[in-house]
Amino acid sequence: MTKFTIQDFLKKKTERKKITMITAYDYPFARIVDEVGVDAILVGDSLGMVVQGLENTLPVTMDEMIYHTKMVTRAVQNAMVIGDMPFMSYQAGIEDAVRNAGRFLKEAGASAVKLEGGMEVAEHIRAMTRSDIPVMAHIGLTPQSIHRMGGYKVQGKTDESAKRLIEEASIVEDAGAFSVLLEAIPMELAKKITETLTIPTIGIGAGPYCDGQVLVLHDVIGLFERFVPKFVKKYANLKEEALKAIKKYKDEVENGMFPSEEHSFK
Ligand code: KIV
Repeated sequence: MTKFTIQDFLKKKTERKKITMITAYDYPFARIVDEVGVDAILVGDSLGMVVQGLENTLPVTMDEMIYHTKMVTRAVQNAMVIGDMPFMSYQAGIEDAVRNAGRFLKEAGASAVKLEGGMEVAEHIRAMTRSDIPVMAHIGLTPQSIHRMGGYKVQGKTDESAKRLIEEASIVEDAGAFSVLLEAIPMELAKKITETLTIPTIGIGAGPYCDGQVLVLHDVIGLFERFVPKFVKKYANLKEEALKAIKKYKDEVENGMFPSEEHSFK
């Protein structure tokens, strides 16, 4: 198998095949995800919440994103690794955006970056793309805008906001994004955007009509329970499994069952 590329992203849309994407933040999980054969791995700034235990994603730094992205690229052989640009790594200016996006490719071995925003980051996307940095845009619910949005709310529910999202999707496509992530928007709106664009849409809480789907790994495997959005499907409960295993270990140490001869040297 060869590495999944941005050309493969576009090809899948043309062939009407679904693109699969999930987040990962470290070596062991990136290995598992890659072994499954997902097309792309997002090293999302959601790591602030699901790994670092933060309230939201805003405090996550560029250095932390590079640290986690390096662990992921070290593990991955086939999936495309996309680094997520954290809050304030691009908002202050285009030069910042290009420099920080470049770090994901140069220092961490990612193949592309993602950034949140539509119209307001079009020039950033243009400059990054001109510098040979493939960019995935992210519109709809953008968690870095939590304070402006007043919480994690479904976007594009009014005619006016839906129209604006359709326009923004076209603007980021024109600016050079190779794909656009649609978060928490009505499924019919996601369908319309997907049909309008030539680049693939990747949905999270955007219904079944997107060209691909992404979810946060820790939600999928049951390792994050602080809040579970409606769009999350939990496929396993690893927390339960981990609790059982660690409790058994503790009990066996306490009652002298571990280590046995089998786990000791003669
Ligand atoms: O940071 C993240 O994990 C994201 C999700 C929308 C997938 O951006």
